[in-house]
Amino acid sequence: MVISIECLNVQDVSALTPIPVQSGVTVDSIQKIGVFTSGGDAPGMNACLRAVVRKALSLGKEVLGIRRGYQGMIESDFVELTSSSVSNIIQKGGTVLKSARSEEFRTPEGRAKAAKNLIENQVDGLVAIGGDGTLAGAALFYEEHKIPLVGCPGTIDNDLFGTDETIGFDTALNTAIQNIDKIRDTADAHDRLFLVEVMGRDAGFIALNSGIGGGAEMVLIPETLSDINKIKSYIHSLMSEQHRSSIVVVAEGDELGGATRIAEELKKDAKFKAIDLRVCILGHTQRGGSPSARDRVLASRLGVAAVQALLDGHANVMVGVIDNQIRLTPSRNVYSRKKSINYELLGLTQLLN
Ligand code: F6P
Repeated sequence: MVISIECLNVQDVSALTPIPVQSGVTVDSIQKIGVFTSGGDAPGMNACLRAVVRKALSLGKEVLGIRRGYQGMIESDFVELTSSSVSNIIQKGGTVLKSARSEEFRTPEGRAKAAKNLIENQVDGLVAIGGDGTLAGAALFYEEHKIPLVGCPGTIDNDLFGTDETIGFDTALNTAIQNIDKIRDTADAHDRLFLVEVMGRDAGFIALNSGIGGGAEMVLIPETLSDINKIKSYIHSLMSEQHRSSIVVVAEGDELGGATRIAEELKKDAKFKAIDLRVCILGHTQRGGSPSARDRVLASRLGVAAVQALLDGHANVMVGVIDNQIRLTPSRNVYSRKKSINYELLGLTQLLN
């Protein structure tokens, strides 16, 4: 079964044209840069932090680390960063600055407190490393308090408009594929059907790519409608006619409700009685671990580019890499516009199983 192939993964070019200077600042007006990681951690955030610090120091700027993201900004949880502060972290997963999802920053009072603390500490510009929630908070913060801010895309989900790839995606994808390979061994040994759930609350990038790389028989993602009856008959035919074992990769955000929910539906059906079915949720294993070479290089490029953009006078933008070129996209577009999956890849999962 091959679906019609239509590649919708086209970025809106109007969002990628050079952005005029918004803040009116010059290189000289930014002497101290605050940097923080926020939202779900992603492998490569440390490599990005290291690049931000070393690039800023190389231009004679000071760097203030903000611990625990926006919450740390509200609580003045600050630390001066030197070149040696970021030694020996490029290979580490997680984030040495720690991360948080701050409820208080969602309020105007919380954001005002954060701005006051930054001003008291002479912070003239910010680099935010995080995902869509981080960038949404950043845009609002800039609109209210006008502290220039440049975002770096850091999320395993790869769901940010304005960059072909986000920091952490490649590592998470490789973790997922390594685990799918392991599951394949045991699935084959027992002639079982496995539903493997990968991360992706709103997006199927990890599922789609790990499904292809792991040779999955089927991939279910939030971007496409999943019809439970069609899924049942397709999986049943796979198990009974073509394969003795099968792997279905399910993105956690699939609208049918993830692997556990889909397994419950399958078990209710009499024709699945004879099929030995298991669920494996890869969960937060995908968030941890040493970043891949690709993520370290991407993170280093983006960290350097973010500082450069800030000092060039850009504000309220995210740096990304599109067609291997550094590009800037307004923060608002990053979270308000949906990055499309590559539908050609979806066709491959069906052609190659
Ligand atoms: O945004 C990245 C992500 O890993 C999602 O894929 C996932 O749904 C979510 O974070 C989990 O967040 P938390 O660790 O806060 O439960």
